[in-house]
Amino acid sequence: MNAFRLGRVLLAALLLSWQIVAPLNAAAAKFTDPAITPIATEGPLKLPTQNAVLQGPLASATLPTIPTTLSIADAAQLQAPLTAGPDIYTADFQKGLFDKLVDISYERTSGIVSMGLLKRFRVQAADLLDLKPGMTVADLMAGSGESWDYILPKIGRTGTVHAVDFSDKMVDHAQVRHQTKFPDYQVNVLNQDATKTTLPSASVDVIHSGYGVKTLPKELRPALVAEISRLLKPGGRAVLVEATLPKNKLLALAQNIYMNKVIPFVMKFLPGEYSAFLMINRYLRDFKNMDELAAEFKAQGFRVGVTPLFGGIAAVLTAEKPASRP
Ligand SMILES: C[S@@+](CC[C@H](N)C(=O)[O-])C[C@H]1O[C@@H](n2cnc3c(N)ncnc32)[C@H](O)[C@@H]1O
Repeated sequence: MNAFRLGRVLLAALLLSWQIVAPLNAAAAKFTDPAITPIATEGPLKLPTQNAVLQGPLASATLPTIPTTLSIADAAQLQAPLTAGPDIYTADFQKGLFDKLVDISYERTSGIVSMGLLKRFRVQAADLLDLKPGMTVADLMAGSGESWDYILPKIGRTGTVHAVDFSDKMVDHAQVRHQTKFPDYQVNVLNQDATKTTLPSASVDVIHSGYGVKTLPKELRPALVAEISRLLKPGGRAVLVEATLPKNKLLALAQNIYMNKVIPFVMKFLPGEYSAFLMINRYLRDFKNMDELAAEFKAQGFRVGVTPLFGGIAAVLTAEKPASRP
């Protein structure tokens, strides 16, 4: 397939998927306070046909055949936790996985796949940090510093970011980003486990974590929250943003189709090895939403709020450490 035809197919697939997601999201937005509803297990969901969706020059493009109906039962099955395969929750497996994600340009790929939404959510999370010049921030599971654009200008050159990540390649790229893009800012990149850093106790004003907690093994959540509690000054705030499964079943189905059918299909045509990227779907299925993590923060004495973003395809968790312990 030549590059021009490949480009047309990719663009058409992206537009097609957006045509499905956007109306479903608009419908989902009309529901107020959606209850936690299990996905229905029967009945086909009618999707628009390709001809109805595509207009203009794309209408005459040669498109691959995409099924126009999808059983809700099939889609619900895609959300079931997977048990087979390697233990995807060991630190070694995850370090290897995130190293591989760097190779396929994690930031660019996730930006394209999310159609810019991941970036938008990063901005929203950074806004909730209520940053001021001179503040000290811990960016846990920082990757290669994908959120620094929205943090560093606000804390200025007198502020400090401690960026913690345990993937060697992410850490290398974070150092390059610091040196090339933010050489005048104080950034301390640490290749460490976010659940047990060497940073001093009560040394940071706020903690940020973007798209990292879904891969953390369940049994390590108490340790992560305890570490956040240890690092924060009294009255400090943590803001964690993560992809989630929407509680609204229509939107959950749309997300399912997009993540588990459209994206893997499109990636088949791209040069490069994207299986590491597709693994994120497995973690998302297990993580589901912020509820359990929020409960852990509450159990450890934090005041907690969870805000769904874009109908619940992501959420931001805000946790405030009490100004003084009783
Ligand atoms: C999906 S990436 C997110 C990167 C970045 N924060 C962003 O906003 O895109 C998740 C990152 O968390 C890191 N990570 C996962 N578990 C970790 C842990 N226990 N300690 C340190 N880093 C961890 C991974 O290495 C990876 O770089």
